[in-house]
Amino acid sequence: MSGNGPYRVGVLGATGAVGSTILEVLAERKFPASEVVPLASARSAGSKVSIGGSDVEVQELTEDSIQGLDLVLSSAGGKVSSEWAPKLIEAGAVVVDNTSFWRMHDDVPLVVADVNDDAVQDHNGLVANPNCTTMQMMVALKPILDAAGIERLIVSTYQSVSGTGRKAIEELRAESQAVLDGDKINPPEVYPHQVAFNVLPQVENFKDGDDYTTEERKVMAETRKILGLTEDVGISATCARVPVVTGHSESVNVQTERDLSPEECRELLSEFPGLIVLDDPGAGIYPLPIAAAGRDEVLVGRIRRDPSHERCLNLWVVGDNLRKGAATNAVQVAELLHQRDLVRVPAGASIG
Ligand SMILES: NC(=O)c1ccc[n+]([C@@H]2O[C@H](COP(=O)([O-])OP(=O)(O)OC[C@H]3O[C@@H](n4cnc5c(N)ncnc54)[C@H](OP(=O)(O)O)[C@@H]3O)[C@@H](O)[C@H]2O)c1
Repeated sequence: MSGNGPYRVGVLGATGAVGSTILEVLAERKFPASEVVPLASARSAGSKVSIGGSDVEVQELTEDSIQGLDLVLSSAGGKVSSEWAPKLIEAGAVVVDNTSFWRMHDDVPLVVADVNDDAVQDHNGLVANPNCTTMQMMVALKPILDAAGIERLIVSTYQSVSGTGRKAIEELRAESQAVLDGDKINPPEVYPHQVAFNVLPQVENFKDGDDYTTEERKVMAETRKILGLTEDVGISATCARVPVVTGHSESVNVQTERDLSPEECRELLSEFPGLIVLDDPGAGIYPLPIAAAGRDEVLVGRIRRDPSHERCLNLWVVGDNLRKGAATNAVQVAELLHQRDLVRVPAGASIG
């Protein structure tokens, strides 16, 4: 049933790190679903996933299995989305896509709930969910942008391995165990170097001729699109992978148009939905990935004046990359579509 629910909801990539979290969040938030259909590749078709306490069989993504779905929350990688999103829309489903493939397309809204909700209004069958690193920073920057404007941003990230998916979590665990046991470490398969007890100044890949990674390019481009920042606003990102299972951390240096004191900034952030300020560093209180993991809120602390510039503040921003960074925001976007009666593919709509 399209329009006002309940909906037949497909979760594409249901066996993955993001997809399995989407299944949990749909149940936790009691999304109005008449049925949740878990979809994945032939590899895991027939296996079971837990949906609201029941074991449900995973179906292979095929032309048949996508029929009759109203909404699909998709996280099966960019290649799958590039091929299957148009087919899903054609079959009548509105898609909320977690991959990077559609995010920068002009006819695709890129939405962070509580930051740019109105962008969902003009969807053409697909709403993109931003990159996890970008997502958590948007929640922290939106109240600053609204109150004081933004002239320049410099972000350095410390990203967890679950941001790469299930196989990366297994690689970190196996390498860590080998180091602790004094065993030989197998050559890495997911990352270019051993990630256990190490820090890699490379998240994703370097395209030919580019000295920024694809992840750094995403952070810079998606930030501009979501916040509507012009090219006059300078943005620079450096992304690193750290041996943390869940929770991305970011050092954000923000130069505002008008002066904003750390006190005023703390107050603005503490009033913003989905943000929690933890900022008593002398008492050891600041955001940590182990505190953010499993939570939907983004944590912000270490709010302080940059001594090198009178209109710059430094912030430390931490979020669960699988929840607000992916699954929770995808479900929040689905809720927005439901609340605004937008779970319907507009007549003649297509993307790309
Ligand atoms: N991890 C994060 O924090 C995060 C955050 C935001 C966005 N994302 C994006 O979300 C996507 C998934 O990430 P992930 O971390 O969940 O990866 P993952 O743990 O590797 O899971 C990938 C999922 O996609 C499915 N899949 C792969 N190839 C498929 C195919 N040909 N047809 C149907 N299903 C297929 C897999 O099913 P099988 O079990 O059948 O292999 C699995 O369910 C990526 O595009 C990623 O960039 C991830």
